[in-house]
Amino acid sequence: MLSVDENKRLTSIMPGTPMGELFRRYWHPIAASVEMDDRPTKSLRILGEDLVLYKDRSGTLGLIDSLCAHRRVDLSYGIPEEHGLRCMYHGWMFDETGQCIEQPFEETVHPDGRFKEKVRVKAYKVEELAGMIFAYMGPEPAPLLPRWEPFQNGWSDIGTIELPCNWLQCMENSLDPVHLEWLHGYWGVWQQKQAAAALGKVEADTFPTIPQPHKKIGFDVFDYGVIKRRVTGNTDETHGDWAVGHPILFPQVLFVGSMTNCSLQYRIPVDDDNTKHMTWYFFKAAPGQTAEPQDKIPHWTVPLFEEDGRLIADLVNHQDFVAWVTQGKNADRSREKLGESDKGVILYRKLLRDQMDIVADGGEPMGVVRDPKVNENIELPLERWSNLAHPGRLGKYTAAQAGRPLTHEDAIRRVVSTWAAQTPWEDEPTIPEGAGRS
Ligand code: FES
Ligand SMILES: [Fe+2]
Repeated sequence: MLSVDENKRLTSIMPGTPMGELFRRYWHPIAASVEMDDRPTKSLRILGEDLVLYKDRSGTLGLIDSLCAHRRVDLSYGIPEEHGLRCMYHGWMFDETGQCIEQPFEETVHPDGRFKEKVRVKAYKVEELAGMIFAYMGPEPAPLLPRWEPFQNGWSDIGTIELPCNWLQCMENSLDPVHLEWLHGYWGVWQQKQAAAALGKVEADTFPTIPQPHKKIGFDVFDYGVIKRRVTGNTDETHGDWAVGHPILFPQVLFVGSMTNCSLQYRIPVDDDNTKHMTWYFFKAAPGQTAEPQDKIPHWTVPLFEEDGRLIADLVNHQDFVAWVTQGKNADRSREKLGESDKGVILYRKLLRDQMDIVADGGEPMGVVRDPKVNENIELPLERWSNLAHPGRLGKYTAAQAGRPLTHEDAIRRVVSTWAAQTPWEDEPTIPEGAGRS
């Protein structure tokens, strides 16, 4: 349980807040690269700041203040020129550093004037990697954009969903192993039974219970975050679930899955009440195989609601979304009752506080990458379930690999197949124990 003030300190990422300062020490994805192909300007609200992302005709990306320095109109309606973004109102133009580089009428009237040199809007660094556009909104010198191991040799695609809740609710879920058993296992299977029985397709009691009950949970802080471990059912500490585990990358990324099919889930604070959740899916090439580079990494927008207005609840990721969103925009942690299952949550909150203090004292927080050698390929721990490489399973992803936009149905099949491949009416391999960890 936290006091109201502690809760606010831990959750607010607005400029100038301690957590806002901590978040501004890391790179965050802000859009999929292909989004800029559809439209070369994009309004974004990130860490409580209103910005415009644009791609000029030379291909340079810029992330600058959403409002023009002249008379404050929205630059997302501007025109990307060969180099820079031109405001549509009076033609002032800004480059990716935020510098005003043209003021047509002022330059006509005062050919030798230096007005534009004194005009600048806020601008942040952006960098593209693996089909994502990342931004760094903190002090210089900027650290390196981390090259995580799964960014190498495989195929990927990206799903984005906007969630009406604070980012910390998403992250605390990732430090909470026991919810897998109940939210996804018990509730998820209960939903499947209901749906199957309604369709009359299967005997409702043929579903296994996933996973086996948790017997033990554990957490270890490592260079880039926290490794989460669990012992369930008849397994012991020699099982990958405990011996290897999987990481939460500080401050707000979950890495989960297997080495053939995994995802990095980025929880990017839009502001204190909203989170942009970008899942970067990765399908690794088989050993000895070299993945042909993808021309484009597909991106799709993930729906949150059913047609009747209820939250989608029958997909694994959406079950998490239901939990986070129904905690409210910003969960009232002054009224919670924490137990043994929450020790990862407690550890993570302490880690956040410690790292906020380090930044406040002028230090560098954990996991910031500055060594190019280290950044060639940062290996991450992950339980390895070889049977997730089943060809029938990987075959489902050919649509993504072909580069066509994924449909909602693709998304459903993906999510379902990554954890609940046991559905008897689908031609699927037997469910691997431990699939769909979260
Ligand atoms: S408001 Fe942008 S140029 Fe005038
Ligand atoms: Fe989950």
